[in-house]
Amino acid sequence: MLYDAYKRPLLDLRISVTDRCNFRCIYCMPETEGQQYCFMKREHLMTFEEIVRLANIFARLGVRKIRLTGGEPLLRKDIDVLISMLKEIEGIQDISLTTNGFLLKQYARRLKEAGMKRVNVSLDALNNDIFAVMNGRGVKSDVILEGINEALVQGLAVKINMVVKKGMNDSEILPMARFFKEKGVTLRFIEFMDVGSLNGWKLDEVVTSKEIYEMITKEMPLEPLEANYVGEVAKRYRYVGTNIEVGFISSVSAAFCSDCTRCRISAEGKLYTCLFSTDGADLLKNMRNGATDEEIIAQIRRIWETRHDRYSEERGKNTTLKGKRIEMSYIGG
Ligand code: GTP
Ligand code: 5AD
Ligand code: SF4
Ligand code: SF4
Repeated sequence: MLYDAYKRPLLDLRISVTDRCNFRCIYCMPETEGQQYCFMKREHLMTFEEIVRLANIFARLGVRKIRLTGGEPLLRKDIDVLISMLKEIEGIQDISLTTNGFLLKQYARRLKEAGMKRVNVSLDALNNDIFAVMNGRGVKSDVILEGINEALVQGLAVKINMVVKKGMNDSEILPMARFFKEKGVTLRFIEFMDVGSLNGWKLDEVVTSKEIYEMITKEMPLEPLEANYVGEVAKRYRYVGTNIEVGFISSVSAAFCSDCTRCRISAEGKLYTCLFSTDGADLLKNMRNGATDEEIIAQIRRIWETRHDRYSEERGKNTTLKGKRIEMSYIGG
């Protein structure tokens, strides 16, 4: 097992499989006038074989969980083939995926058949008008709900991620809570974060977990639950008298860096030790230049053992990132 400078083990790997997305969420890739997104060229993307080679290396170093992200990971052709390849890796106990759900209806069965057990689906509103604005592409929530239903029918465990932005979808907090309580599906509220440089983040647009908790518990009382595992990003609660859960991801109001066991690989094979890193180490380039597994392991070891990242804890009230920042769509959250 590898430990960083603050004694945090490396346990989770988030792999972005594409930087492309079919949505333009206002908090991630806003489609403002004149905004051009320049996506990676196909030859710069890691192949499945390269992803699997890296995943094997990380598993040897102690990684137990893999999450596939994007952009939108279901846009990567034959993603189910990749999942079935990753499933064979010794030591990996959990493979999951974070998706916007647009293609989930079509893919749920293939994901399940490839051996995936669970997915996290982003959905920011039930109200079609609000959701259409938030996803920037006019997509209705019904489309995502159909995807969620199909995932449930196929036997995938589903968690819903809702990013809350003040004045935009805070009116949807209670409707979403009621709806997913009724459905028995875990809903997690995410504080709007200052990732990237395009979403115009301001602190006063963050609705804190505490505010959301109070809103919900007044109508539907909540009680706390233990974390599923050390370093879980969401604080868990359940509706009193039920086993139905709600989670709060409070990266702004209650940062969770002290338990952060995650590292990230971009679709072009760069390693980032924090969601807010400005530079990544080019593992793919070294692999393509002929580096052996042992050399890549030594490189990762050097990077993780000197890791000091704790951006969310240091951020305080102001976003402190200066200069170039990676975008959420590049690194997958
Ligand atoms: P589970 O394994 O289901 O607990 O997944 P997860 O919650 O770790 O992953 P998911 O992709 O669903 O992320 C939910 C939200 O948490 C997203 O907004 C992520 O950007 C955010 N998040 C996940 N990991 C980190 C992290 O290390 N730091 C920060 N600041 N946010 C994170
Ligand atoms: N703040 C918080 N969460 C975000 N996500 C994307 N951008 C942001 C942001 N600025 C979420 C997505 C998805 C997950 C991968 O990250 O909604 O659920
Ligand atoms: Fe929205 Fe995720 Fe696409 Fe970003 S990558 S625009 S958060 S769906
Ligand atoms: Fe980990 Fe960086 Fe997120 Fe803190 S801000 S929890 S160090 S990824």
